[in-house]
Amino acid sequence: MAKSFGRPGNEIHVLRNVDLEVADGELLVLLGPSGCGKTTLLRSLVGLERPDAGRIHIGGSCVLDTARGVFVQPNRRDVGMVFQNYALWPHMRVRKNVAYPLQSRGNKAALKDGRVEEVLDIVQCGHLADRYPPELSGGQQQRVSLARALAPRPALLLLDEPLSNLDALLRVELRAQLRLLHRELGFTAVHVTHDQEEAIALGTRVAVMNAGRIEQVGDPIEVYRAPATEYVADFLGARNRLELRAEDGGVALAGQRLPGLARDDLRGSFALRLRDEHLLVRPTGDDTSSPASHATTATATAWLADGRIVELLPGIETSECVVEIGDLRLFARIPTGAMDLRPGQSVEVGFAIDKARCYSQDHGRLVPDWADRTDRTHQVAGVSS
Ligand SMILES: Nc1ncnc2c1ncn2[C@@H]1O[C@H](COP(=O)(O)OP(=O)(O)OP(=O)(O)O)[C@@H](O)[C@H]1O
Ligand SMILES: [Mg+2]
Repeated sequence: MAKSFGRPGNEIHVLRNVDLEVADGELLVLLGPSGCGKTTLLRSLVGLERPDAGRIHIGGSCVLDTARGVFVQPNRRDVGMVFQNYALWPHMRVRKNVAYPLQSRGNKAALKDGRVEEVLDIVQCGHLADRYPPELSGGQQQRVSLARALAPRPALLLLDEPLSNLDALLRVELRAQLRLLHRELGFTAVHVTHDQEEAIALGTRVAVMNAGRIEQVGDPIEVYRAPATEYVADFLGARNRLELRAEDGGVALAGQRLPGLARDDLRGSFALRLRDEHLLVRPTGDDTSSPASHATTATATAWLADGRIVELLPGIETSECVVEIGDLRLFARIPTGAMDLRPGQSVEVGFAIDKARCYSQDHGRLVPDWADRTDRTHQVAGVSS
């Protein structure tokens, strides 16, 4: 499926060749940076946008086929949508808001059978049926909006950042309820979020978008553990990037040759990606103290010298430590108070080799068995834990 906006010759290609299949009962989480086309994709599925090319099948029926001129109107599609800003009709009581999609589909039987009350009870808003949306809290409005989307039992439920307008506590509570609802009702959904915890907690699969394309789809934990491209790694929080050069059977990282780190199968330049919590910091020359990091299960640790702490941002459990090695800026998450660290201090920066992900420079793809082979072939200089 493809979609662009703007005049011919001056168009913005927002969706490029999106190819996605969502299985029955699946809750697919769609992730991606702002502007990558997530909302446009959902709006195309529900029928609020008209793609330029492609096909969409929902629950066995074709709702779009540009080659054959098929375009089914939104109210004739078996799709429910929940928007970030709730999008309830303010002048209609809650009951009427929820009844609306049943009425517009002419579903009199469901209306008579008390479907409106039933879905309002499911989202714990039965007692609010006679109120108007402006008389509800944000969390209540979002529950009502979910009830409205669920009422006609759509073949596909679309959720566009439904929790992002809520405060942190409510978000976690509603996330848990959504997960429970999905388990109990077994609906099929595509859920857009920016929140990685939400993605892991809710998704049966995740799809990461990049500039109108699906870059990777897979099991949430798998995608986090082994992002297929450097783009996905970066987007999912592995923001530390170390340039690696493999030459003469050895490896240089961030310009420093690591003695003992032998990789005679690699040639040329690569990039290592690491999450903050997998970076270690210790005062220069102090190779006896345990590294200030959570990553103590590491099989082997590589150390880089000549670091300097430029910033320490304290937190309750862990603190963010910003370190510079020359021009390179790295971020470590260290247990608060574990070491006496302060800005300006010289430090060494280490990382757990099996936590690093290695990407080829030319096309940014994962070098799959980097850690395995490295562990087998090297004796790391510095500390092994
Ligand atoms: N009606 C429109 N006319 C022109 N450009 C549009 C239109 N709708 C969206 N766009 C553009 O398409 C791109 C994708 O927008 P979209 O809303 O799908 O992004 P998104 O991934 O949902 O972002 P966010 O995370 O910020 O919600 C953006 O560059 C946006 O400016
Ligand atoms: Mg959006």
